[in-house]
Amino acid sequence: MTLLQTEGLSRRVSPERWLFRGLDLSVGPGEQLALQGASGVGKSTLLNLLAGLEQPDEGRMLFKGQDLKTMNENARLALRRDSFGFVFQAFHLMPHLNALQNVMVPCLLAGLSLSEAKSRAVALLTALGLAGVLQAFPAVLSGGEQQRVALARALVHQPEVVLADEPTGNLDPETASQALDLLCQTCRDQGAALVMVTHATEAALRLDRRFVLTG
Ligand SMILES: Nc1ncnc2c1ncn2[C@@H]1O[C@H](COP(=O)(O)OP(=O)(O)O)[C@@H](O)[C@H]1O
Ligand SMILES: [Mg+2]
Repeated sequence: MTLLQTEGLSRRVSPERWLFRGLDLSVGPGEQLALQGASGVGKSTLLNLLAGLEQPDEGRMLFKGQDLKTMNENARLALRRDSFGFVFQAFHLMPHLNALQNVMVPCLLAGLSLSEAKSRAVALLTALGLAGVLQAFPAVLSGGEQQRVALARALVHQPEVVLADEPTGNLDPETASQALDLLCQTCRDQGAALVMVTHATEAALRLDRRFVLTG
């Protein structure tokens, strides 16, 4: 079964500049795809397209065989909220919520109880070495800590698809390796598809497949 699929996906950012054309990708449950390529080649744009956050200029994206374009905005919203986990390159944590609350949000949106949301969030943050900063607000966290909070937030509601944009780019090698282990293992355990942008070839090689955008 294919969870996430693109057919002839193309994105143009100016009349003469195509980021990519005719891209056919597919990722199944439990499968892990590394997305690589030079800076500016269109990796973040491709992740946005996969999440239905941007529209392609040609081609289409399918989730479990359904064309995202045929869904109305409410259905797309519900899909992103319940079935997708996203680690943005710039984290996008909510500044007025502490680390724990940031991670609880997807569970609460998905309708889980406060206590279930809290226990899941604490468990993930603890596994990521953040047990000591649960009450801290993003502004006082280091970049690496914010990145791990963002990672926990993407996994906590057990999404079917995890899209991660350089999720370990701000971490020291040892913390990066631990965070990557947690990300990959959690996705495998939950049967989630993972698409991860990374500049680290070593990290990419730990995934099932590698796709290099060349521009
Ligand atoms: N909506 C847009 N309009 C114009 N240019 C864009 C738009 N979106 C992305 N770009 C350009 O497309 C290129 C790819 O961006 P991005 O996907 O962020 O690359 P990467 O993540 O691989 O570094 C960049 O040169 C960026 O400026
Ligand atoms: Mg990028």
